[in-house]
Amino acid sequence: MEISRHTHIKIIILLVLIAILFYYLLIKTNTHELKNTFKVFHHILNRSRIMEMLVPVSNVTILNRIGNITNRTNTSTKRSINTTITPDPSTTTTTGRPTTIDIAELLVERSPSAVRLKAKAPTGGLAVFLFQTEHYILADLQLYLMRKLAIDLVALELFIDRPLTPEMCDVARAHRAKINIFPTDRHRANAGGSDRNTAIVNWAISLKAKKYLGNGTAILLLDGDVFPLSPFDSVTLLNSRDVVCRKHPALFARFCWIGFICLGPQLYDTIDHFNVGQTMRQGKSYDSGGKTIEYFLKYENASFSWMRETIFLGTDKDLFWGAMDQDIKWISQHFSRCDKCGPEIFLSPFDVSNAVFYHMISATSEWRFGGQGGRRLSIHDSVMQSPYGPNKTYSMSDIIASVRKVQQMELIPFFGNLTCERICGG
Ligand SMILES: *[C@@H]1O[C@H](CO)[C@@H](O)[C@H](O)[C@H]1NC(C)=O
Ligand SMILES: *[C@@H]1O[C@H](CO)[C@@H](O)[C@H](O)[C@H]1NC(C)=O
Ligand SMILES: *[C@@H]1O[C@H](CO)[C@@H](O)[C@H](O)[C@H]1NC(C)=O
Ligand SMILES: *[C@@H]1O[C@H](CO)[C@@H](O)[C@H](O)[C@H]1NC(C)=O
Ligand SMILES: *[C@@H]1O[C@H](CO)[C@@H](O)[C@H](O)[C@H]1NC(C)=O
Ligand SMILES: *[C@@H]1O[C@H](CO)[C@@H](O)[C@H](O)[C@H]1NC(C)=O
Ligand SMILES: *[C@@H]1O[C@H](CO)[C@@H](O)[C@H](O)[C@H]1NC(C)=O
Ligand SMILES: *[C@@H]1O[C@H](CO)[C@@H](O)[C@H](O)[C@H]1NC(C)=O
Ligand SMILES: *[C@@H]1O[C@H](CO)[C@@H](O)[C@H](O)[C@H]1NC(C)=O
Ligand SMILES: *[C@@H]1O[C@H](CO)[C@@H](O)[C@H](O)[C@H]1NC(C)=O
Repeated sequence: MEISRHTHIKIIILLVLIAILFYYLLIKTNTHELKNTFKVFHHILNRSRIMEMLVPVSNVTILNRIGNITNRTNTSTKRSINTTITPDPSTTTTTGRPTTIDIAELLVERSPSAVRLKAKAPTGGLAVFLFQTEHYILADLQLYLMRKLAIDLVALELFIDRPLTPEMCDVARAHRAKINIFPTDRHRANAGGSDRNTAIVNWAISLKAKKYLGNGTAILLLDGDVFPLSPFDSVTLLNSRDVVCRKHPALFARFCWIGFICLGPQLYDTIDHFNVGQTMRQGKSYDSGGKTIEYFLKYENASFSWMRETIFLGTDKDLFWGAMDQDIKWISQHFSRCDKCGPEIFLSPFDVSNAVFYHMISATSEWRFGGQGGRRLSIHDSVMQSPYGPNKTYSMSDIIASVRKVQQMELIPFFGNLTCERICGG
């Protein structure tokens, strides 16, 4: 009797797991995502949580655990605002041994409803919110490329986390960007990089998001060292989704990285619940952007997708005219960590979009490397002297050829086995 009941429970658990697996298989047609999904499963299995679960401790425990796994609507978890500062994604830590699978780790992209797919996309254009510190050369490059490549741009909002300098003021004026200066006294004493970043992005959202979303305007939130390499617009970037962002690179992460988040106007009603703060779930600290998981879990009607990503492993004169080559060399010479052997490249997951973005890693701050003035000037000048420059006209066919080349590269998410041999060839 007892044996048969245990067997029964085991079969139920297995069926639940198979159902979850099928759920992923069905909604994921994209093989890259499938691979990642299996990696997540493998990761979870390796941490023996499911195995542990299959070993019955007591009937009540088993049922509790099943309940906690399948209870998708209940998002209340023990949570603490007492977060660990993790400025570097790779240092995101696991401080406890969770006993259940947090549904937050299994979240997958959500396609828009059929109704949304058929509806006409909002045409209110795109407002870009850019976050800079004091590096005006970098700000100049970023604002310049935005004006050049963002097709349906309606506004540039520059958020500065430092007192305004005359140079920054000139740069903003030259590119018709509105300046917003973060009140420094709103930072907590001794706030680290991630805390500051979180505070200013949340501030920007609370200050300006509703105004744009209410006009049917999408918003792109961008870190100061992320910029476009190809023309893009809000309609194809979002492709009917409510949110498109770069997934945070931590292995377990299923939430938005704070440095690249595009929000559709459909978020107007719920934007007050969209928070890019850090958080804790089941003893795990989540870096900046972690609280976007709460939004996705709470609003099951919100559709979202992750950007794809890769790394430029070497210089290439045929890739955007080699305008990034100096910086690619700089990164490979200065980063000893093998997963950071080149700039991170974010590309649209949708066929309708040619969007490619460059992440000039660690360029906005000096916490990892000091003395980056030369690096910023060098990429600025090389872009301005390339066909992107103000006195040149770029050929669209060159851009498309470069975009196709990027789309055919091996996708290298910051995920999985990032050994030097695999990523950088030794
Ligand atoms: C667990 O199951 C056994 C037999 O099926 C039963 O006797 C026992 O009361 C159950 N324990 C609890 C806590 O329900
Ligand atoms: C599985 O996890 C153990 C420790 O948690 C780790 O040492 C091992 O490398 C992992 N195996 C794989 C294949 O990831
Ligand atoms: C599952 O959730 C219930 C209710 O929230 C809780 O009492 C129980 O301890 C949880 N089980 C585990 C294994 O965490
Ligand atoms: C599941 O969610 C319901 C409400 O949504 C809640 O009452 C119940 O306690 C939850 N169960 C567990 C095991 O957390
Ligand atoms: C979720 O479940 C917990 C118990 O685990 C309960 O206290 C809480 O009210 C539930 N939340 C919702 C939204 O149902
Ligand atoms: C963090 O939590 C500990 C104990 O839970 C508490 O003593 C400490 O004051 C908290 N720190 C902050 C900054 O809230
Ligand atoms: C929103 O629309 C109103 C009226 O059309 C316009 O006055 C306002 O400038 C727009 N706001 C933005 C941020 O574009
Ligand atoms: C999702 O549903 C909520 C109501 O529960 C609504 O306010 C919100 O606008 C919807 N969001 C989207 C993106 O449709
Ligand atoms: C573009 O041309 C103007 C006028 O000829 C010149 O002043 C400026 O320096 C040039 N800019 C670049 C980046 O070459
Ligand atoms: C990671 O990749 C390297 C090189 O391809 C390989 O030697 C190593 O066994 C891999 N490690 C795991 C845990 O898969």
